Amino acid sequence: MTRTAYLNGRFLPLDEARVPVMDRGFLFADGIYEVAAVLHGRLVDNAAHLARLDRSLSEIGIRNPHSAQEWERLETELVEKNGVREGLVYIQVTRGVAERDFSFPKGDVPATVVMFTQEKSIVANPLAESGAKAITVPDLRWKRRDIKSVALLAQVLAKQQASEAGVAEAFMIEDGVVTEGSSSTVFIVTKAGALVTRPLSHAILPGITRKAVLALAEETGLAFEERLINARELFEAAEAFYTSASAFVMPVVEIDGKTLGDGRPGPVAKRLRELYFAFAARDAG
Ligand code: PDD
Repeated sequence: MTRTAYLNGRFLPLDEARVPVMDRGFLFADGIYEVAAVLHGRLVDNAAHLARLDRSLSEIGIRNPHSAQEWERLETELVEKNGVREGLVYIQVTRGVAERDFSFPKGDVPATVVMFTQEKSIVANPLAESGAKAITVPDLRWKRRDIKSVALLAQVLAKQQASEAGVAEAFMIEDGVVTEGSSSTVFIVTKAGALVTRPLSHAILPGITRKAVLALAEETGLAFEERLINARELFEAAEAFYTSASAFVMPVVEIDGKTLGDGRPGPVAKRLRELYFAFAARDAG
């Protein structure tokens, strides 16, 4: 089946979707993006993703071209056109096409809007059964990681290092503490049983899955702490896992070659993964 993309008001075959070379997204990474999961053909926690999209745009001074309602309608139509039952919707908005000049273009330059879908097995993922492995890498990024910027070179390099090490994710370290995964939020469970993740700030992306997982933990009476995680705490943890729209809750069983616990997904990660599935299925209707 031909994949359908959305570009500036039109649905068209993905391989016919073209953005000009002078697009500021291409020249300056001057744009933001959003990724939401699709389960049973429906978007998961999409209001939260659209709120973050709106915030990212406003933080870099791009007018949001659509209301949340319009976005949802366009995304839903794209999901239907592609017949996606399980996978992702990708949205990107850039500051548009203009002569190359660092400062914002003058006048009313329309934003470039791109959307496509990807099919992906999120629920039946064998990696979640065995548990993922991770490595630690230095965090090479800029200082506004709360904005979902398309400038992802540091994450690309981190993920490539993970691939070359034969592992699934890279946990980024700055000043001796964990920031986040190259495309995920990091959680640990200490040997004392505390669920810990880093508090929100400009240093990390406010993960939508993170927020839902913390709410689920709270609902089930599982205490959690939002505090900095020392890099060495990773290796002393009883459990670790990471969360994202594309992985939901992914148990981690090895970091930098050191096995965590008994080398199998831990009970807290497994429980939260199940709770998140139930939440996502409910939310997807
Ligand atoms: N990435 N931190 C970073 C740096 C991320 O790129 C992501 C998600 C997350 C988790 O956020 P959420 O739970 O809202 O997906 C945290 C997406 C999936 C991506 O870039 O493909």
